[in-house]
Amino acid sequence: MLSPQTIAIIKSTVPVLEVHGKAITTRFYEMMFASHPELLNIFNHANQKQGRQQTALANAVYAAAAHIDNLEAILPAVKQIAHKHRSLGIKPEHYPIVGENLLAAIKDVLGDAATDEIINAWAEAYGVIADAFISVEEGMYREAEAAEGGWRDFRDFVVVKKGKESAVVTSFYLKPKDGGPLPPFQPGQYISVKMTVPGETHTHIRQYSLSDSPGKEYYRISVKREDGGEEKPAGIVSCYLHSHVQEGDILQISAPAGDFILDTEADTPVVLLSGGVGLTPLVSMLQTLAQRQPKRPVTFIHAARNSLTHAMKEQVTELARRHENVRSYVLYSEPTEEDRKLGGFDKEGHVDLPLLQSLLPDNRADFYFCGPVPFMKTVYRALQEWGVPHERIHYEFFGPMGSLNE
Ligand code: HEM
Repeated sequence: MLSPQTIAIIKSTVPVLEVHGKAITTRFYEMMFASHPELLNIFNHANQKQGRQQTALANAVYAAAAHIDNLEAILPAVKQIAHKHRSLGIKPEHYPIVGENLLAAIKDVLGDAATDEIINAWAEAYGVIADAFISVEEGMYREAEAAEGGWRDFRDFVVVKKGKESAVVTSFYLKPKDGGPLPPFQPGQYISVKMTVPGETHTHIRQYSLSDSPGKEYYRISVKREDGGEEKPAGIVSCYLHSHVQEGDILQISAPAGDFILDTEADTPVVLLSGGVGLTPLVSMLQTLAQRQPKRPVTFIHAARNSLTHAMKEQVTELARRHENVRSYVLYSEPTEEDRKLGGFDKEGHVDLPLLQSLLPDNRADFYFCGPVPFMKTVYRALQEWGVPHERIHYEFFGPMGSLNE
């Protein structure tokens, strides 16, 4: 239990740290990787370079500290992060390393303003926050291990099939190398892939949504090749997977994780919205709905640039054709001349509120969405404007969580 005095110090310093949030966490990462370079095997270097992870970690620590006397209130956020940590293989012994370096960074950035009293209060508070994460994560590790065919950390999988889904997306079908059973997963969940890429000093871990329905004898992931551009470096893992990983190769996979999951108990209409490769968890949901809830109305709305980048087109069209409850609607933002001649899409443009209102009888549905950040923001705002209640809005960010309200 923290003393009322410690709680008061924490609450009064949260706004100060928030102002310096990014400076502190940037310094924190510099110091931590200098003293513990082995952690570069776990952290995503691309996220570090783009500064996205700095913001995510800072926000989470301050949000937790602001609720230090009632961490229960932020349990859903803790669980979401814990899912990510569990899929990455974060261990209790990692927490003191983060704690020590975070405190050192606070001291470094704030200088004399960070008195011993303040630092001691934050050390105590960090201990409480870390314990909360460790215990939630331990529960998740146990659950992953206890599932039939389950496992705790990483397990070797064989790529049994590799198949192109579009000019930029390729699917990998994965079966356990040990020949053992595969635990079920919930549609919408992801796995982590840990890769050793020749020429790279450290291993890389990336999360990919499972893109097929549960209950098959394989897991399927569908990966977009990130070629990079002026502002973005090329994706080391996605490019390696596309260019070098072949059928018969082994990938290290962690057990399915994540709380962006389809509620298959409900019978409300469902709207699945995706932009680009964000369709992968939604295709898993769509297939599950078609198999398990043949009477539940499903509207699958997908936005792609054009037919060249439109992944899984045949699978979705076929599902909509075979299942009366499923309706598919496709938007292209930049249709090719060929697309214009041949059709194969419903509308040119983007997803917005007028489109949703024209396609759906009303806002009484569960909305699930995933895609690039601008797409997520537009959809989120449209749903809010339409008065869709918070509990009917479900979404997943690619990479570090961001805010949809910015
Ligand atoms: C991801 C918070 C401790 C390693 C994240 C994210 C948050 C976060 C908010 C982003 C989640 C998402 O994008 O879904 C925290 C907090 C911690 C903590 C509040 C302490 C109380 C740790 C520790 C480690 C760690 C001890 C391991 C040394 C990671 C990694 C990621 C991550 C590797 C994935 C993102 C990336 O690679 O860029 N954490 N974390 N975290 N965390 Fe933590």
